[in-house]
Amino acid sequence: MRFARRLDAVPPYLFAELERKIEQMQADGIDVISLGIGDPDLPTPDAVVEAMAREVHDPTTHRYPSNRGSQIFREAGAEFYRRRFGVQIDAETEVLPVLGGKEGVAHLCLACLDPGDVCLSPDPGYPPYTSGPVFSGAEVHYLPLEEERGFVPDLDAVPEEVWARANLLFLNYPNNPTGAVAPEGFFDHAVALARRHGVIVVHDSSYSEICFDGYRAPSLLETSGAKEVGVEILSLSKGWNMTGWRTGLMAGNAEVLERYRHLKTNLDSGMFDALQRATAVALLDAADFPREMSFVYERRRDLVVEALRAIGLDVEPPRATPYIWTRVPAGYSSGSFAETVLERAYVVVSPGSAYGPSGEGFFRISLTVADDRLEEAVRRMETSLQSGILSR
Ligand SMILES: Cc1ncc(COP(=O)(O)O)c(C=O)c1O
Repeated sequence: MRFARRLDAVPPYLFAELERKIEQMQADGIDVISLGIGDPDLPTPDAVVEAMAREVHDPTTHRYPSNRGSQIFREAGAEFYRRRFGVQIDAETEVLPVLGGKEGVAHLCLACLDPGDVCLSPDPGYPPYTSGPVFSGAEVHYLPLEEERGFVPDLDAVPEEVWARANLLFLNYPNNPTGAVAPEGFFDHAVALARRHGVIVVHDSSYSEICFDGYRAPSLLETSGAKEVGVEILSLSKGWNMTGWRTGLMAGNAEVLERYRHLKTNLDSGMFDALQRATAVALLDAADFPREMSFVYERRRDLVVEALRAIGLDVEPPRATPYIWTRVPAGYSSGSFAETVLERAYVVVSPGSAYGPSGEGFFRISLTVADDRLEEAVRRMETSLQSGILSR
């Protein structure tokens, strides 16, 4: 058999490798605690589950949905943006369903990038910002996210010739994996540069609803002129504990949305109508749920930050996202530290290097783990790492 070469052009999916490792240890009878994957441990809000159960019984939801999304879905999306961000979205032309943020990211690349084009992607960053462009035959130009700059890319450092070939710019705040938030004025600057260079901005807003200490993340679409150059992808996975449901929306520039929809009509037949209706319930009736989840993660964040500081690591508590991103101790690489933690504490942390070259020297801990397991993981790390790890 022969297979398409494009699959060889991207590294194996990070979490697939982690999962294989965990499975092996578990097969050996070891109780491994994974802090590797951002998959919420708590259930979807009751109102959403009940809506889904109800709607599934309605046979009008059983037929092919439309790639445009139902009126109910689009109006709920627009209403959410109005209430949450004060942003006006035209429910007819400026919002579409996505089958999760990942699907939106990957397919936007196919809709917007030609071979030879450049895609500007944050490094470290969510892996589909690399695989999407690569599958489209485009080149990735990494935008390093440096600690000194608050993990915000220096867009002015992108060479003119790269801007000239670029057609897509991925941004993601609150950010995975760094937990950083966008500083005031950053979106304005990005929009201004995108306009100047004719580049489409895609803001991945998967973590906008998980914020701490009173912080509320803004939408890119609040920025003046943003809708002329870009779209935003809002996922319900993290805020509403809906990773398994595969639901989210894309909002913003009508032309970009129309090209994405055009592509999608050739690839799939849209989102199950019952799920669209349940998503509308999440956006309208359970809009405050992510705030409750944020309190849970805030408490867990404080627990982990305290434990890591006790081990001797210099950790800055994030203002958003269920992730803690921090430097590995001196003498370790991302990979060797993750391996050491796994071998000594039977705890999985994500090596920063898996998110791109600039992630080297960091590791990520996910807080999407039940309280008792997180406490156990922290205890194990404190006892097994404190003694030896920093004196290596
Ligand atoms: C930055 C970012 N975007 C998108 C996603 C994917 O979300 P979804 O479950 O909606 O596909 C994730 C998931 O971890 C993510 O970290």
